[in-house]
Amino acid sequence: MTQAAILVLGSINTDLVVRGTRLPAPGETVLGGTFFRAAGGKGANQAVAAARAGAVSVSLIAAVGDDDLGRESLAGLHTEGVGCDLVKRVQGEPSGVALIMVDQTGQNCISVASGANLHLTPADIDAIDDGRFKQSAVLLACLEAPVEAVIRGLQRGRQMGRATILNPAPADSAIASPDVLKYVDIITPNETEAALLTGQPVQDAAQAIAAGKRLVEWGCRHAIVTMGARGCVVVGDRVRQVAALEVQAVDATAAGDAFNGTLALALAEGKDLMTAVGWAGAAAALSVTRPGAQPSLPRRDEIDEAFRGRNG
Ligand code: RIB
Repeated sequence: MTQAAILVLGSINTDLVVRGTRLPAPGETVLGGTFFRAAGGKGANQAVAAARAGAVSVSLIAAVGDDDLGRESLAGLHTEGVGCDLVKRVQGEPSGVALIMVDQTGQNCISVASGANLHLTPADIDAIDDGRFKQSAVLLACLEAPVEAVIRGLQRGRQMGRATILNPAPADSAIASPDVLKYVDIITPNETEAALLTGQPVQDAAQAIAAGKRLVEWGCRHAIVTMGARGCVVVGDRVRQVAALEVQAVDATAAGDAFNGTLALALAEGKDLMTAVGWAGAAAALSVTRPGAQPSLPRRDEIDEAFRGRNG
């Protein structure tokens, strides 16, 4: 293992979750669900995924409000071993909250009130010491933070010679440009995000490969298009398909975050790309078998066991 320290740039939310038999249609009320609250936010989930999977050091760059939800989120992240000294406290703004509905097949829909998450600025990224980037092998960013701050983080990561991973979730067409993607080593959209970014349909592996090639043409070194239970495609100098582990889906929330956090860690540890993708896929599959965002994220021994089982 080499320098298994990573920086995560993203969001912190509190998730309010209702699990029911099915998702309501617009204007419809569906009775009979159960409620729970859980720690969430794509950036925080990715940071916790990396920490539980064994990162020596994970620091989160994000923003919370000066309120009870923000304080609870930071306390939870501290317990998980995620460094929060780069988390900005924003006066007068609520911390992020996500309303999540999950059906009996594990599918979800999510609506986020971003609150303080939207107050992270490029100036905040500029204020971070060079040393914090140099100490980390990988910078992992998602798009629940403002895109300008994310771009600045990718620029700084690249300037410092760090590997940069962009999880374009939720998708924002502002990053679908050579001016941005030239700072990205690996982009990790799901099918919906890949379609939105490229303007091409992405409904099967062939279309995922075509979208991945477009993203690589625009400047990133690799595109990994994730397809849930159908695995993922890895597009770079070569094109490879990776099958997903077969699991009983309970809740897909944070599967992408499990994948990205553990992918970043695996690369920081010096695993080759395809081993890292397989290991991250095992983490994502495990997360789908459990309810909630952070409560679903697996530990290293579980990921190792699932990965070994898959590879015989
Ligand atoms: O990726 C899952 C996350 O998306 C949830 O935890 C929710 O907070 C939203 O940000």
